[in-house]
Amino acid sequence: MNIKPAYILASTAEAIVLQANSTRVHSSQAHLHPRLASVVLRHLRSEHHAPIAAHNLQAYALLRDRLRAGARPLVLDSFCGTGHSTRALAARHPDHLVVGIDQSAHRLGKHPCDPGDDYLLLRAQCEAIWTLLARDGLLTDFHYLLYPNPWPKPGHLGRRVHGHPGFAQLLRLGGRLELRSNWQIYVEEFGTAMHLVGQRGVVSRLRVQGEGLSLFERKYRDSGHALWRYTAPAVTGSGE
Ligand SMILES: C[S@@+](CC[C@H](N)C(=O)[O-])C[C@H]1O[C@@H](n2cnc3c(N)ncnc32)[C@H](O)[C@@H]1O
Repeated sequence: MNIKPAYILASTAEAIVLQANSTRVHSSQAHLHPRLASVVLRHLRSEHHAPIAAHNLQAYALLRDRLRAGARPLVLDSFCGTGHSTRALAARHPDHLVVGIDQSAHRLGKHPCDPGDDYLLLRAQCEAIWTLLARDGLLTDFHYLLYPNPWPKPGHLGRRVHGHPGFAQLLRLGGRLELRSNWQIYVEEFGTAMHLVGQRGVVSRLRVQGEGLSLFERKYRDSGHALWRYTAPAVTGSGE
């Protein structure tokens, strides 16, 4: 077995070891999902909202407190994993409140905390936080979605960001949007879903130099995967 060197991030309290031998996404789906358009449009027409769990409401209360305290424009790092990208984005956007969201306490627990950190990490479901922000009429300036789980089986379309009912809420948040993945079809589906709702963005190959924005990005790059991204200059609120 050809195992390439592992990465050990010395700055983390608990060393994070990532093998650079990640397998590529395998899927029986070789093209855009045939039901993509009907699923996206059905969700956009639907008024149904799932009930919001207590831990998501608590996480959102923290976010509202920080927004009230600082009145800074918002950057979301949805599906932030360990939050390494959140820290990098806070350095990139010093005048914004940068908020990383992930449902996994285990992943967030690996975040290398520093008392000087000026960003927020929330353990919550992204779709719930998007819903609550949208309900309060709050907008993002930038929204990053870095390497969301690919859900590669065709039957998983409804779990992908663009196939989930939460996509409508994401659109309502506006902002400059960037989604990255090592599965080209995922990014093309996302771009197509955005196009269906009138948003004009671009799908392109991503060449990552240096550390990469997130740990998964680095792992995939070092495993030799092609990386893809969708960028939209400014999403104009829609999704109702
Ligand atoms: C492949 S990892 C990518 C993590 C990070 N963005 C990176 O690039 O290193 C996907 C992450 O999405 C999180 N996740 C999956 N579904 C979620 C959801 N509905 N809400 C919040 N986090 C979710 C998982 O816990 C996991 O940390």
